[in-house]
Amino acid sequence: MTATPVPTLAPRPTQRAKGRNVLAVASGKGGVGKTWFSITLTHALARANQRVLLFDGDLGLANVDIQLGLMPKYDLGSVVTGRLTLNQAAVNYPEGGFDVIAGRSGSGSLANIPLSRLQLLGDDLNLLACAYDRVVLDLGAGVEKTVRALSNNAGTILVVTTDEPTSLTDAYAFIKVTLMERPGTDIRVVVNMANSTREGERIYNTLLKACEGFLKSSPPLAGVIRRDLKVREAIRNQSPLLTRSPNSEAAADVEAIVDKLLGGR
Ligand SMILES: Nc1ncnc2c1ncn2[C@@H]1O[C@H](COP(=O)(O)OP(=O)(O)O)[C@@H](O)[C@H]1O
Ligand SMILES: [Mg+2]
Repeated sequence: MTATPVPTLAPRPTQRAKGRNVLAVASGKGGVGKTWFSITLTHALARANQRVLLFDGDLGLANVDIQLGLMPKYDLGSVVTGRLTLNQAAVNYPEGGFDVIAGRSGSGSLANIPLSRLQLLGDDLNLLACAYDRVVLDLGAGVEKTVRALSNNAGTILVVTTDEPTSLTDAYAFIKVTLMERPGTDIRVVVNMANSTREGERIYNTLLKACEGFLKSSPPLAGVIRRDLKVREAIRNQSPLLTRSPNSEAAADVEAIVDKLLGGR
């Protein structure tokens, strides 16, 4: 008698809970380096052999394509108008070894998409995420529902802050609103543009104290990224930092964040 193969019941990667491998990059305040960090995080994950998709979810100020010097054939605009499905809008970025869904729209701003449509887009993204190891979602700034709709069900939210008091209070507001809506969300803090690692840790501790005191929550530190002139230089040249200056301090800091994320810590 020939043995019949027994179907395995072990969950395959494609069967994991939808959206759990989505890393949403958020902030209260704009200009804290979310887009730059999202790109560099994606690139570092790709260099660690992960299949990664970078999704530009900043619908008002989409600029992933600009920072990467991409002229994408497809973008979210065509998805929203129903001309493309979400997976058709993904373009490969061979220099970085990852895929990108650009947010820019030739057909006008995407900032006014109704909330219900955004939620559907978020569901589609969670589905598409099953084809990747990780999805990095660059969100718009702010705490509004429209900003957060796309990250609905994201496995991890990385909240980016700098040492500016307004950036810290806005990061706190983002954490508060997210935890009220989805208690138990895995939120981690990234301190960007820190003068030193130590200084960054001090800033994190300030935020942590507020979260512990008022929210009874202790979001862990994902990492500190030092202020580095090479970042501006890379953006000005529309080339990724890890290609242009792989040995820079900021590159090392993002790689350390990836090591920690992949190490499951
Ligand atoms: N680690 C860093 N060191 C130095 N400059 C940085 C760093 N991170 C970001 N920047 C600067 O901040 C600016 C805003 O970054 P961006 O990614 O567009 O922010 P956001 O998406 O949060 O609005 C960049 O143009 C860059 O010059
Ligand atoms: Mg941005």
